Amino acid sequence: MRHHRIASIPADGIGPEVIAAGLEVLDALATRDGGFVLDVEHYDWGSERYKKTGAFMPDDALATLKKADAIFFGAVGAIDVPDHISLWGLRLPICQGFDQYANIRPTRVLPGVVSPLRDVGPGDLDWLIVRENSEGEYAGHGGRAHRGLPEEVATEVAIFTRVGVERIMRYAFNCARNRPRKHITIVTKSNAQKFGLVMWDEIALEVAADYPDVTWDKELVDAMTMRMVRKPQSIDTVVATNLHADILSDLAAALAGSLGVAPTGNVNPSKNYPSMFEPIHGSAFDITGKGIANPVATFWTGALMLEHLGEPRAAAALMTAIEQVCAAGILTPDVGGTSTTKDVTLAMVDAIRGANT
Ligand code: IPM
Ligand code: MG
Repeated sequence: MRHHRIASIPADGIGPEVIAAGLEVLDALATRDGGFVLDVEHYDWGSERYKKTGAFMPDDALATLKKADAIFFGAVGAIDVPDHISLWGLRLPICQGFDQYANIRPTRVLPGVVSPLRDVGPGDLDWLIVRENSEGEYAGHGGRAHRGLPEEVATEVAIFTRVGVERIMRYAFNCARNRPRKHITIVTKSNAQKFGLVMWDEIALEVAADYPDVTWDKELVDAMTMRMVRKPQSIDTVVATNLHADILSDLAAALAGSLGVAPTGNVNPSKNYPSMFEPIHGSAFDITGKGIANPVATFWTGALMLEHLGEPRAAAALMTAIEQVCAAGILTPDVGGTSTTKDVTLAMVDAIRGANT
């Protein structure tokens, strides 16, 4: 029996609701498959803890998490805590501390889910966005001076290193190589941003030479938004900077039907630290506690986690169950249905138990 140690951090908003649903489904898969067990350790870190103690997580949090094989994360952010405080208090220290430099964001129109794009169905939009996750515009490099005075100044410096750009580029080309289309689009803004992103283009060219089996093209990020809407079929794998890919992935999620189905993995490809898997949607205060959060993003996130843990068969079974449940119209309100989080979760467990694989 293979054991995988999972650190669960449901945190804020709808995080606890969707992580509970996700763990229920993962448990059904583990039981059914028989080949592995998830040993789950729960951590109550998040904004409530911050409000009580002044810290989102304990001082030795990273040392504790390091023992896990993967981290299953809900969402961080509360109405009464500034977003940059919560983000830099919990999620980014884990991403950066564990060198999770590759953020993967698969997007697809699931059967039963309607894209806002006319005539775009499953198969027309099947993308993998690879987001640089350790530097760029999120490097946390900058400062403020003369606070409150008319001459106040703030800088937010985007950092691009050769090591950082080359490793994300290689990771993305590898992803492209492992997908059927073997095509990658390199996104920058190297017309206006003439240092970091020109280096990005140069490194892309060098790396592309090592992947003769992968075709590639380039797009400026503004033009990329148009291409995503007008020619979704022309896109397969995409690699972009931290901020650009953040924005493109929200557009991608909307075009695929809802942020409620969008998963992500913060991956440390060398596996010398645990990777962290989370739904993209965030806390969603407007629906917290209502029992209608879409758990599909978390299920899909679970599939990415299983894949990373070396359980591809269970990951594939999980994706099949998601497709069956969505195709059957068991959908939460964000994707046009009337089902609750619980309805979708129970349908998933049934689909997994009933599968004859
Ligand atoms: C995402 C989110 C986060 C990000 C926010 C919550 C800071 O938008 O995962 O895409 O930009 O990284
Ligand atoms: Mg985002």
